[in-house]
Amino acid sequence: MSIEWTGSGPELLLRVDRNRPEPLREQLESALRESIRAGRLAAGERLPSSRALARDLGVSRGLVTECYAQLQAEGYLVTRGGSATRVAAAARPPVDAPSPPATLAGPTALVGPVALAGPTALAETVGPVGIDFRPGVPDLSSFPRERWSRALRRACRDVPSDLLGYGDPYGDPMLRDVLAAYLRRVRGAAADAAHTVVCAGYAQGLQLVLRALAGEGVRVVAVEDPGDPDHRAAAAMAGLDIVAVPVDEHGVDTGALAATGARAVLLTPAHQSPTGVVLAPGRRQALIAWAVARDATIVEDDYDAEFRYDREPVGALQGLAPDRVALLGSVSKSLAPALRLGWILCPPRLSADVARQKRLADRGSPVLDQFALADLLRSGHYDRHLRHMRTRYAARRAALVDALGRYAPEVEVRGLAAGFHAVAQLPPGTDERAVVEAARRRSVALYGIGGYLLDPPERRTSPARLVLGFGNLTPDAISDGIAAVADLLRGG
Ligand SMILES: Cc1ncc(COP(=O)(O)O)c(C=O)c1O
Repeated sequence: MSIEWTGSGPELLLRVDRNRPEPLREQLESALRESIRAGRLAAGERLPSSRALARDLGVSRGLVTECYAQLQAEGYLVTRGGSATRVAAAARPPVDAPSPPATLAGPTALVGPVALAGPTALAETVGPVGIDFRPGVPDLSSFPRERWSRALRRACRDVPSDLLGYGDPYGDPMLRDVLAAYLRRVRGAAADAAHTVVCAGYAQGLQLVLRALAGEGVRVVAVEDPGDPDHRAAAAMAGLDIVAVPVDEHGVDTGALAATGARAVLLTPAHQSPTGVVLAPGRRQALIAWAVARDATIVEDDYDAEFRYDREPVGALQGLAPDRVALLGSVSKSLAPALRLGWILCPPRLSADVARQKRLADRGSPVLDQFALADLLRSGHYDRHLRHMRTRYAARRAALVDALGRYAPEVEVRGLAAGFHAVAQLPPGTDERAVVEAARRRSVALYGIGGYLLDPPERRTSPARLVLGFGNLTPDAISDGIAAVADLLRGG
């Protein structure tokens, strides 16, 4: 039964420490998250009003309101129509919830093996590129070469000789400790080094998790539509059938997901790839409830979550249900794709098998690189680099919005809350493919949403859209590229 509080909050909420380096808001958010996860705050329980809690803690009411809003966005809290803030029902699912066997979707719902040609295929086949709006590429010129080479040199100097053999397939224990602490702090994840596996980026992490799930008897995995074609191909490579679930303005359609009968889903909750939608709080809760009821697993792709502009990043879904969610992240967006380093926070039941898959795949990620990453994280350089990049991407994002407003006001831009790509919806009647091809003749590489959709082109009814990556383009290049696209749209 949930407790109705009056007046002040419980003891655990009152512990914010002004002598600690973390900002008070971060402390309060973490304390609340931990209390909910640990069950000290039960589902349905009413929280004190922001005014009462602020008074008790001696902080501003705005700080408490912001903290509540953040945890609401993450699915830990709910507020309905001006009533009190409460702990969300799905915030801490019972660990051993009953799991009725899922019925598999009929063969008509399944999509067979998927062709490997992704959204990049067109750009790779024609002419030179001057301005490339390829999504997913960070600012490669900002890679912290000096820091990385120093960290590598140190790693090479300090690594004990016995660590130069075949390493722990889970990854270097020190890096796993540092990563788990980082993911708890920055992503609100329920991270435990014992269930963290270091891998070669998201791409490998996905393969390892899918193989482990296949080993558990999963046969069908649901994917977002639109979604990344390479990730669909990865599911096919792991021998799984895929079933598409539509994405709307609130994120993945959880009703449609439940109707598929799939027992695993690949998701990009923090910034849907490619639409850029941030998964709505109600959907987060519905997803967890679905996973618990179906004994299903959510594979959370946390690819660009650190970059959020209008407010702090939404915490990882994994924090709500570590038994049900595998959280996959990588340094491909934060540092550079070429490093091929990533991590998996595994549901505890899967971690041994994921590590076994990692051992079979390549016997472990390179130890010196793992040391170097641990060094960057521990020294605070990683955080500093992220802060620096956030400012840089914010300027590029502003340049994109500005250029679209100036040259192509008829184009609607969406998905800008996080990351470094956005979606531009073209005026009705525009032929997406023709725009992409014409732009290419002007040395501008564009990527239509078509490459991300599962439906064959002749069955599509959705409007023409471009997925515009702006991470690796200077503000001037963005402006020039958009001016060229606008000219094309006007028939120039
Ligand atoms: C949706 C999505 N997830 C994850 C990644 C990162 O993949 P990796 O870590 O294998 O480089 C990308 C890279 O572009 C991506 O677009």
